Amino acid sequence: MSKVFRVPLVPARGGTTTAPRAPRPAAAPTRPGIVAGCLSPHPPHLIYAENPPQNEPRSTGGWETLRWAYERLRARIRDVHKPDVLIVHAPHWITMVGHHVNCVPNPRGISVEPIFPHLFRYRYDFRTDVELGEAIADEASGLGLVTRKLRDPRVRVDYATIGALHLANPAWDIPVVSLSANNNPYFYSDASLSEMEVLGEATRRAVEATGRRAVLLASNSLSHLHWHEEPELPEDMEREHPYNNHQYRWDMKLLEAIRRGPTAPLRELIPEHIEATASETKAGSLTWMLAAMGWPEVAGDVLGYGTIIGTGNAVVEWLPEGSHHG
Ligand SMILES: [Fe+2]
Repeated sequence: MSKVFRVPLVPARGGTTTAPRAPRPAAAPTRPGIVAGCLSPHPPHLIYAENPPQNEPRSTGGWETLRWAYERLRARIRDVHKPDVLIVHAPHWITMVGHHVNCVPNPRGISVEPIFPHLFRYRYDFRTDVELGEAIADEASGLGLVTRKLRDPRVRVDYATIGALHLANPAWDIPVVSLSANNNPYFYSDASLSEMEVLGEATRRAVEATGRRAVLLASNSLSHLHWHEEPELPEDMEREHPYNNHQYRWDMKLLEAIRRGPTAPLRELIPEHIEATASETKAGSLTWMLAAMGWPEVAGDVLGYGTIIGTGNAVVEWLPEGSHHG
């Protein structure tokens, strides 16, 4: 070990002299663990609007303020957090029995949004951190959850997983673990989120046991009522606005609490927000992520908010306790 790491960081007892200051590392500390959690919604419109080469449909843009928020998040992930792995929980990989973990080493194929196939037909090809995926499944199983390791490479990856991963890291150069949503928010409006607390705990234990630096992605929109007719030009921004003021005000109530911090009051507020707005957080992704971080005593950094076909969407970053936004 280099000598500089043995320099005491506090003055010796009884002394007033200051120890020589160790040089600050140029990069972020490389300690393992969960280094950030992000609310990272997946509407296909955002990818359609960006025109990446993987997506077949072409657009003239749209929803820029949300896409700029994602650009800032991408920079933080790439330049500050430098994770070994992105762990995503997404509401459209629905498993009716148990929590499934994708353990396929190299998922690849085409992901299609079933309601908006004219906006999202995306070719994906990425690497899974299989060791961590298996560790999460084992920890979850050990904590009493029904779990399954997905091994079949023919299973098509859902658009909510692909959407959040592309928007957070379009280079796809960071390995991935993806988790299913073990509930069906469109049938069980008052589904309990308590299992998501356990899945979060299992995720944290597995990250620490494997020594990974992980960024968590909760792939959820907020208020979730939306239009049923699409303009002739899907990205016609004249038509984009909140579904109604009730939905908007409730999104702001949740985001103000997030910005104020700490996260503990969100435990009560998230279910209230779901009840009021049919929020997509009822799939549990946001609760899973905050539980994995131990409901930290920090404020979240809301990088942006905007509506997509009337639904509310926010890009938010939380850091673990003891770290600071740069
Ligand atoms: Fe969705």
